[in-house]
Amino acid sequence: MTETSLDSFISGLPKAELHLHIEGSLEPELMFALAKRNALTLPYKSVEEIRAAYSFSRLQDFLDIYYAGASVLLTAEDFHDLGLAYFRRAAADGVRHAEIFFDPQTHTDRGVPFATVAKGLFSAMDAAQRTLNVSSKLILCFLRHLDEDAAFATLKMAEPYLDRIAGVGLDSSEVGHPPSKFARVFKRAREMGLKLVAHAGEEGPPDYVYEALDLLGVDRLDHGNRSLEDESLVKRLAATGMTLTVCPLSNLKLCVVHDMKDHPLKRMLALGLNATVNSDDPAYFGGYVNDNFRAVAAGVGLTREEISRLARNSFTGSFLNPDEQAVHLAALDAYSAA
Ligand code: HPA
Ligand code: ZN
Repeated sequence: MTETSLDSFISGLPKAELHLHIEGSLEPELMFALAKRNALTLPYKSVEEIRAAYSFSRLQDFLDIYYAGASVLLTAEDFHDLGLAYFRRAAADGVRHAEIFFDPQTHTDRGVPFATVAKGLFSAMDAAQRTLNVSSKLILCFLRHLDEDAAFATLKMAEPYLDRIAGVGLDSSEVGHPPSKFARVFKRAREMGLKLVAHAGEEGPPDYVYEALDLLGVDRLDHGNRSLEDESLVKRLAATGMTLTVCPLSNLKLCVVHDMKDHPLKRMLALGLNATVNSDDPAYFGGYVNDNFRAVAAGVGLTREEISRLARNSFTGSFLNPDEQAVHLAALDAYSAA
């Protein structure tokens, strides 16, 4: 199969996106528009200058710029516009369902009420369902560089909205902030009926993945790349059918991998891991989900069967119920067979 026909296979492939930080989908154009609407001055003169600043050698380089960028988000309308822009772009990539992260502490800590963030994102999710036929779920991420008491306070703020929040996650600076730091708040979230996910093994060691499994009891693992350093961990992840939300362009931009040819995705599939492909922070890492599929497919030489498998994993690894998953899997099978 030529590269072009593989690309078009990827384009039309029905898929779910399971690792997307909504604040990381803030494109420079929208950043400027929101700054103008909110009468704020950005420390950049142009969209080009913003894009030129997006050069990172590790996770923290990115996080510093990402948190600064989010400062233009003030009103429910801002969060609505941010969310709907993502859903439109995702729909164009064949995304039928998205489970999106948001970082409430990034906003509440600068005086934007939790209710404002929630209201804007819920209305974007409703509009996506209504106008794009894209379903979605929302995952509240705790910032791991802050303490567990702050995470508990955030969970408390979320209480009035729990009918619309599917789960909690853990993101931000990984090294030095192991999952064990959040064991109590994750236990509480589990008791409240929430799904649990955590970033682990992006920059952090395999021990952090063990902690996410054993101390947090995660239902899904975000990134998980460094699990491959531990053979018995890989066996366990494969045997338990754990879904890994892998983000190829993110890995490249944050120097988790140094060349797309070295990306571990193909190896993950060969080892029996339920890997998926996701965009993480597409406005910062140079591509949405299909760009991620294309880049990694070209880098490591994925077959059509492997690409179909990744899309299948995205639905079976989602928090949709089995009946909902079955509808998407049937559409995927029909597409792959055609
Ligand atoms: N890792 C950790 N925190 C994040 C990321 C990531 O890839 N994206 C946004 N916050
Ligand atoms: Zn992430």
